[in-house]
Amino acid sequence: MSDTERTYALVTGANKGLGREVARRLGLRGMTVLASARDRSRGTQTVEELRQSGIDAHFVQLDVTDEASVSAAAEHVAREFGRLDVLVNNAGVVEDDIAPSATTSALAERIYRTNVFGVISTTHAMLPLLRASDAGRVVNLSSRLGSLAKAADLTIPHRALLAYNSSKAALNSLTLHYAREFAGTPLKVNSATPGYVATDLNDHQGTRTVEEGARVVVTLATLDKDGPTGGFFDEDGPVAW
Ligand SMILES: NC(=O)c1ccc[n+]([C@@H]2O[C@H](COP(=O)([O-])OP(=O)(O)OC[C@H]3O[C@@H](n4cnc5c(N)ncnc54)[C@H](OP(=O)(O)O)[C@@H]3O)[C@@H](O)[C@H]2O)c1
Repeated sequence: MSDTERTYALVTGANKGLGREVARRLGLRGMTVLASARDRSRGTQTVEELRQSGIDAHFVQLDVTDEASVSAAAEHVAREFGRLDVLVNNAGVVEDDIAPSATTSALAERIYRTNVFGVISTTHAMLPLLRASDAGRVVNLSSRLGSLAKAADLTIPHRALLAYNSSKAALNSLTLHYAREFAGTPLKVNSATPGYVATDLNDHQGTRTVEEGARVVVTLATLDKDGPTGGFFDEDGPVAW
Protein backbone atom coordinates (compact mmCIF):
# COMPACT_ATOMS: atom_id res chain seq x y z
CA MET A 1 0.00 0.00 0.00
CA SER A 2 1.38 3.44 -0.88
CA ASP A 3 1.61 6.22 1.71
CA THR A 4 -1.23 8.12 0.02
CA GLU A 5 -3.53 5.09 0.30
CA ARG A 6 -2.77 4.50 3.98
CA THR A 7 -4.85 6.15 6.66
CA TYR A 8 -3.29 7.08 9.98
CA ALA A 9 -5.36 7.16 13.15
CA LEU A 10 -4.05 8.42 16.49
CA VAL A 11 -5.99 7.44 19.61
CA THR A 12 -5.15 8.98 22.99
CA GLY A 13 -5.35 6.73 26.04
CA ALA A 14 -5.31 3.68 23.77
CA ASN A 15 -3.84 1.30 26.35
CA LYS A 16 -7.18 0.17 27.79
CA GLY A 17 -10.94 0.61 27.85
CA LEU A 18 -12.69 2.38 25.00
CA GLY A 19 -9.46 3.75 23.54
CA ARG A 20 -7.98 0.29 23.07
CA GLU A 21 -11.19 -1.01 21.49
CA VAL A 22 -11.43 1.98 19.13
CA ALA A 23 -7.78 1.44 18.13
CA ARG A 24 -8.49 -2.25 17.51
CA ARG A 25 -11.58 -1.55 15.41
CA LEU A 26 -9.90 1.15 13.31
CA GLY A 27 -6.92 -1.17 12.82
CA LEU A 28 -9.15 -4.04 11.70
CA ARG A 29 -10.58 -1.67 9.08
CA GLY A 30 -7.09 -1.36 7.63
CA MET A 31 -5.96 1.88 9.22
CA THR A 32 -2.46 2.30 10.56
CA VAL A 33 -3.08 2.83 14.25
CA LEU A 34 -0.94 5.13 16.33
CA ALA A 35 -1.87 3.82 19.75
CA SER A 36 -0.80 6.43 22.24
CA ALA A 37 -0.52 6.13 26.00
CA ARG A 38 1.16 8.09 28.74
CA ASP A 39 2.86 4.96 30.06
CA ARG A 40 5.38 3.41 27.68
CA SER A 41 5.15 -0.16 28.93
CA ARG A 42 1.32 -0.24 28.98
CA GLY A 43 1.27 1.35 25.52
CA THR A 44 3.81 -0.96 23.94
CA GLN A 45 1.99 -3.98 25.38
CA THR A 46 -1.23 -2.79 23.70
CA VAL A 47 0.63 -2.30 20.43
CA GLU A 48 1.96 -5.86 20.67
CA GLU A 49 -1.58 -7.18 21.21
CA LEU A 50 -2.90 -5.18 18.26
CA ARG A 51 -0.11 -6.48 16.04
CA GLN A 52 -0.98 -10.04 17.03
CA SER A 53 -4.42 -9.37 15.51
CA GLY A 54 -2.71 -8.41 12.25
CA ILE A 55 -3.06 -4.66 12.84
CA ASP A 56 -0.41 -2.18 11.68
CA ALA A 57 0.02 -0.56 15.10
CA HIS A 58 2.68 1.82 16.42
CA PHE A 59 3.26 3.23 19.86
CA VAL A 60 3.33 6.97 20.47
CA GLN A 61 4.08 8.22 23.98
CA LEU A 62 1.55 10.93 24.80
CA ASP A 63 0.49 12.38 28.13
CA VAL A 64 -2.18 14.89 27.18
CA THR A 65 -1.44 17.00 30.27
CA ASP A 66 2.24 17.40 29.43
CA GLU A 67 2.95 19.96 26.68
CA ALA A 68 6.44 18.57 26.05
CA SER A 69 5.01 15.08 25.58
CA VAL A 70 2.28 16.39 23.24
CA SER A 71 4.81 18.33 21.11
CA ALA A 72 7.16 15.35 20.98
CA ALA A 73 4.25 13.12 19.89
CA ALA A 74 3.29 15.53 17.08
CA GLU A 75 6.92 15.69 15.91
CA HIS A 76 7.13 11.89 16.02
CA VAL A 77 3.97 11.52 13.91
CA ALA A 78 5.17 14.19 11.43
CA ARG A 79 8.56 12.53 11.06
CA GLU A 80 7.36 8.92 10.80
CA PHE A 81 4.00 9.25 9.03
CA GLY A 82 3.81 12.76 7.57
CA ARG A 83 0.13 13.35 8.29
CA LEU A 84 -2.84 12.25 10.36
CA ASP A 85 -6.26 11.24 9.04
CA VAL A 86 -8.00 10.55 12.34
CA LEU A 87 -7.53 11.92 15.86
CA VAL A 88 -9.58 10.31 18.62
CA ASN A 89 -9.38 12.44 21.77
CA ASN A 90 -10.25 9.58 24.08
CA ALA A 91 -8.07 10.06 27.19
CA GLY A 92 -10.26 11.09 30.10
CA VAL A 93 -10.56 11.01 33.87
CA VAL A 94 -13.45 11.21 36.31
CA GLU A 95 -13.83 12.18 39.96
CA ASP A 96 -15.37 10.21 42.80
CA ASP A 97 -19.12 10.47 43.21
CA ILE A 98 -19.32 13.54 45.45
CA ALA A 99 -21.86 16.34 45.59
CA PRO A 100 -21.28 19.46 43.48
CA SER A 101 -21.08 21.45 46.72
CA ALA A 102 -18.21 19.24 47.93
CA THR A 103 -16.16 19.72 44.76
CA THR A 104 -13.06 21.86 45.16
CA SER A 105 -11.48 23.93 42.42
CA ALA A 106 -8.32 21.82 42.81
CA LEU A 107 -10.31 18.71 41.93
CA ALA A 108 -12.03 20.43 39.01
CA GLU A 109 -8.66 21.69 37.76
CA ARG A 110 -7.28 18.15 37.77
CA ILE A 111 -10.23 16.85 35.74
CA TYR A 112 -10.17 19.78 33.32
CA ARG A 113 -6.42 19.41 32.80
CA THR A 114 -7.03 16.06 31.09
CA ASN A 115 -10.58 16.31 29.72
CA VAL A 116 -10.44 19.87 28.37
CA PHE A 117 -6.95 21.36 28.29
CA GLY A 118 -5.48 18.00 27.25
CA VAL A 119 -7.81 17.96 24.25
CA ILE A 120 -6.88 21.52 23.32
CA SER A 121 -3.14 20.75 23.58
CA THR A 122 -3.41 17.55 21.57
CA THR A 123 -5.71 19.00 18.92
CA HIS A 124 -3.62 22.14 18.57
CA ALA A 125 -0.46 20.09 18.09
CA MET A 126 -2.04 17.62 15.66
CA LEU A 127 -4.07 20.06 13.54
CA PRO A 128 -1.31 20.77 10.98
CA LEU A 129 -1.04 16.99 10.44
CA LEU A 130 -4.82 16.59 10.19
CA ARG A 131 -5.03 19.44 7.70
CA ALA A 132 -2.49 17.59 5.55
CA SER A 133 -5.11 14.85 5.13
CA ASP A 134 -7.76 15.07 2.44
CA ALA A 135 -10.31 13.64 4.91
CA GLY A 136 -9.28 14.59 8.45
CA ARG A 137 -11.60 13.43 11.24
CA VAL A 138 -11.50 14.42 14.91
CA VAL A 139 -13.67 12.55 17.41
CA ASN A 140 -13.95 13.86 20.95
CA LEU A 141 -15.02 11.33 23.58
CA SER A 142 -17.77 13.15 25.35
CA SER A 143 -20.56 11.85 27.56
CA ARG A 144 -24.30 12.16 28.00
CA LEU A 145 -23.35 13.53 31.42
CA GLY A 146 -21.98 16.55 29.57
CA SER A 147 -25.39 17.33 28.04
CA LEU A 148 -26.64 20.69 29.34
CA ALA A 149 -30.13 19.85 28.03
CA LYS A 150 -30.25 16.78 30.27
CA ALA A 151 -28.79 18.61 33.27
CA ALA A 152 -31.36 21.38 32.79
CA ASP A 153 -34.31 18.98 32.99
CA LEU A 154 -34.75 18.61 36.74
CA THR A 155 -37.45 15.97 36.23
CA ILE A 156 -35.02 13.32 34.95
CA PRO A 157 -32.32 11.61 37.01
CA HIS A 158 -28.83 12.89 36.21
CA ARG A 159 -25.60 11.93 37.97
CA ALA A 160 -24.25 15.25 39.19
CA LEU A 161 -20.48 15.01 38.84
CA LEU A 162 -19.65 18.71 38.82
CA ALA A 163 -16.14 18.58 37.40
CA TYR A 164 -16.57 15.67 34.99
CA ASN A 165 -19.96 16.72 33.60
CA SER A 166 -18.94 20.33 33.09
CA SER A 167 -15.63 19.22 31.54
CA LYS A 168 -17.58 17.21 28.96
CA ALA A 169 -19.90 20.17 28.33
CA ALA A 170 -16.78 22.26 27.74
CA LEU A 171 -15.42 19.55 25.45
CA ASN A 172 -18.64 19.71 23.43
CA SER A 173 -18.12 23.43 23.09
CA LEU A 174 -14.59 22.79 21.77
CA THR A 175 -16.11 20.45 19.18
CA LEU A 176 -18.45 23.19 17.97
CA HIS A 177 -15.79 25.85 17.74
CA TYR A 178 -13.26 23.69 15.89
CA ALA A 179 -16.02 22.51 13.56
CA ARG A 180 -17.00 26.11 12.80
CA GLU A 181 -13.44 27.09 12.03
CA PHE A 182 -12.97 24.19 9.64
CA ALA A 183 -16.45 24.19 8.05
CA GLY A 184 -16.09 24.08 4.28
CA THR A 185 -12.77 22.20 4.54
CA PRO A 186 -12.35 18.40 4.51
CA LEU A 187 -11.79 18.38 8.29
CA LYS A 188 -14.74 17.20 10.39
CA VAL A 189 -14.95 17.45 14.17
CA ASN A 190 -17.63 15.68 16.22
CA SER A 191 -18.39 14.59 19.79
CA ALA A 192 -19.34 11.00 20.59
CA THR A 193 -21.10 9.56 23.61
CA PRO A 194 -20.49 5.83 23.97
CA GLY A 195 -23.14 5.12 26.63
CA TYR A 196 -22.41 3.68 30.05
CA VAL A 197 -19.56 1.29 29.25
CA ALA A 198 -17.91 -1.12 31.68
CA THR A 199 -14.31 0.11 32.05
CA ASP A 200 -11.88 1.06 34.81
CA LEU A 201 -13.39 4.57 34.69
CA ASN A 202 -16.51 3.31 36.49
CA ASP A 203 -15.05 0.21 38.20
CA HIS A 204 -16.72 -1.83 35.46
CA GLN A 205 -20.21 -0.85 36.62
CA GLY A 206 -21.18 0.22 33.08
CA THR A 207 -23.93 -1.75 31.38
CA ARG A 208 -22.44 -1.73 27.87
CA THR A 209 -19.40 -3.47 26.45
CA VAL A 210 -16.44 -1.63 24.96
CA GLU A 211 -17.40 -3.14 21.60
CA GLU A 212 -20.81 -1.43 21.85
CA GLY A 213 -19.36 1.84 23.14
CA ALA A 214 -16.73 2.04 20.40
CA ARG A 215 -19.31 1.84 17.59
CA VAL A 216 -20.24 5.51 17.44
CA VAL A 217 -16.61 6.55 17.74
CA VAL A 218 -15.61 4.38 14.80
CA THR A 219 -18.55 5.68 12.77
CA LEU A 220 -17.50 9.30 13.35
CA ALA A 221 -13.83 8.51 12.72
CA THR A 222 -14.69 7.01 9.32
CA LEU A 223 -17.32 9.47 8.05
CA ASP A 224 -17.34 10.01 4.32
CA LYS A 225 -17.15 13.48 2.81
CA ASP A 226 -20.92 14.02 3.10
CA GLY A 227 -20.94 13.18 6.82
CA PRO A 228 -21.77 15.71 9.54
CA THR A 229 -19.42 18.03 11.39
CA GLY A 230 -20.00 19.89 14.64
CA GLY A 231 -22.40 17.28 16.01
CA PHE A 232 -22.91 15.32 19.24
CA PHE A 233 -23.86 11.70 18.58
CA ASP A 234 -24.56 8.38 20.15
CA GLU A 235 -24.87 5.29 17.98
CA ASP A 236 -28.55 6.07 17.27
CA GLY A 237 -27.95 9.63 16.05
CA PRO A 238 -27.81 13.19 17.37
CA VAL A 239 -27.89 13.82 21.14
CA ALA A 240 -29.16 17.05 22.73
CA TRP A 241 -26.32 19.41 23.65
N1 LIG B 1 -16.88 4.28 30.33
C1 LIG B 1 -17.94 5.03 30.15
O1 LIG B 1 -19.07 4.68 30.55
C2 LIG B 1 -17.82 6.34 29.44
C3 LIG B 1 -19.00 7.05 29.16
C4 LIG B 1 -18.92 8.27 28.50
C5 LIG B 1 -17.69 8.76 28.12
N2 LIG B 1 -16.55 8.07 28.42
C6 LIG B 1 -15.28 8.66 28.01
O2 LIG B 1 -14.55 7.74 27.24
C7 LIG B 1 -13.15 7.99 27.38
C8 LIG B 1 -12.43 6.70 27.70
O3 LIG B 1 -12.91 6.24 28.95
P1 LIG B 1 -12.83 4.72 29.43
O4 LIG B 1 -14.16 4.42 29.99
O5 LIG B 1 -12.24 3.87 28.39
O6 LIG B 1 -11.84 4.90 30.68
P2 LIG B 1 -10.52 4.10 31.13
O7 LIG B 1 -10.66 2.66 30.88
O8 LIG B 1 -10.25 4.61 32.52
O9 LIG B 1 -9.42 4.67 30.13
C9 LIG B 1 -9.01 6.01 30.20
C10 LIG B 1 -7.78 6.14 29.34
O10 LIG B 1 -7.35 7.51 29.41
C11 LIG B 1 -5.97 7.50 29.69
N3 LIG B 1 -5.51 8.73 30.30
C12 LIG B 1 -5.92 9.33 31.44
N4 LIG B 1 -5.21 10.44 31.66
C13 LIG B 1 -4.35 10.56 30.61
C14 LIG B 1 -3.36 11.49 30.26
N5 LIG B 1 -3.08 12.56 31.04
N6 LIG B 1 -2.69 11.33 29.09
C15 LIG B 1 -2.95 10.27 28.29
N7 LIG B 1 -3.85 9.33 28.60
C16 LIG B 1 -4.54 9.48 29.75
C17 LIG B 1 -5.77 6.31 30.62
O11 LIG B 1 -4.40 5.98 30.71
P3 LIG B 1 -3.77 5.24 32.02
O12 LIG B 1 -4.02 3.77 31.85
O13 LIG B 1 -2.33 5.62 31.96
O14 LIG B 1 -4.49 5.80 33.21
C18 LIG B 1 -6.60 5.29 29.85
O15 LIG B 1 -5.88 4.79 28.76
C19 LIG B 1 -13.03 9.07 28.45
O16 LIG B 1 -12.84 10.33 27.86
C20 LIG B 1 -14.37 9.00 29.16
O17 LIG B 1 -14.71 10.23 29.78
C21 LIG B 1 -16.59 6.88 29.06
